[in-house]
Amino acid sequence: MKTRQALRQTIRNKRRQLTAQQQSDAALGLLHRFSADEKILRAQHIALYLSNDGELNTKLIIDWCWQQNKCVYLPVMHPFSKGHLLFLRFEQQTPLINNRYGISEPPLDVRTIIPAAQLDIICTPLVAFDKTGARLGMGGGFYDRTLSQWYKQEKQQNISSPYAIGLAHDCQLVDEIPTEVWDIPLPEILTPSTRYKFQ
Ligand SMILES: Nc1ncnc2c1ncn2[C@@H]1O[C@H](COP(=O)(O)OP(=O)(O)O)[C@@H](O)[C@H]1O
Ligand SMILES: [Mg+2]
Repeated sequence: MKTRQALRQTIRNKRRQLTAQQQSDAALGLLHRFSADEKILRAQHIALYLSNDGELNTKLIIDWCWQQNKCVYLPVMHPFSKGHLLFLRFEQQTPLINNRYGISEPPLDVRTIIPAAQLDIICTPLVAFDKTGARLGMGGGFYDRTLSQWYKQEKQQNISSPYAIGLAHDCQLVDEIPTEVWDIPLPEILTPSTRYKFQ
């Protein structure tokens, strides 16, 4: 089995090599699955992210959410709590600024923060996934940390929590992800061609 770092590199290269036409077909395919997903249709507060590095473009999905009067949120890195994410409201008129990694994000404004527990759905980016719902991210563990707060509790106490949906190109599916104890598996992943349900 490839190491996690080697797998990240292979799949990120593959993703970067998709042509502009493949990217726009994929974005449209994903929009069709996303807008027909029963959990999405019922959700009001949805965390998304802005794509980069060959990730599937989420712009069409964000526009669709706005048209449906759903509230969209984007992750920003917590300014003090290292490794943690905050989710900020993203509206059509929200300006975007470049963070220290050159990634666009909304400016930090306490009035637009939503406590993550109030999100109905958290859509996560990912580098690779397998047929069990295991997720390999960029290596920061941000979504593992975010989702871990509910993962064990929900199983034990059946409390409601944000539902996680991974978004990916079909070429990001691999045979097997070497997982670590802290990795949180995803209950659902949408690709342009397929809706994977793991639970
Ligand atoms: N719930 C958590 N609490 C504290 N540290 C975590 C948690 N989840 C992940 N991490 C840390 O984040 C780092 C990156 O995690 P990893 O799973 O490799 O990244 P990714 O999920 O982005 O692929 C690891 O060093 C791991 O220890
Ligand atoms: Mg992980």
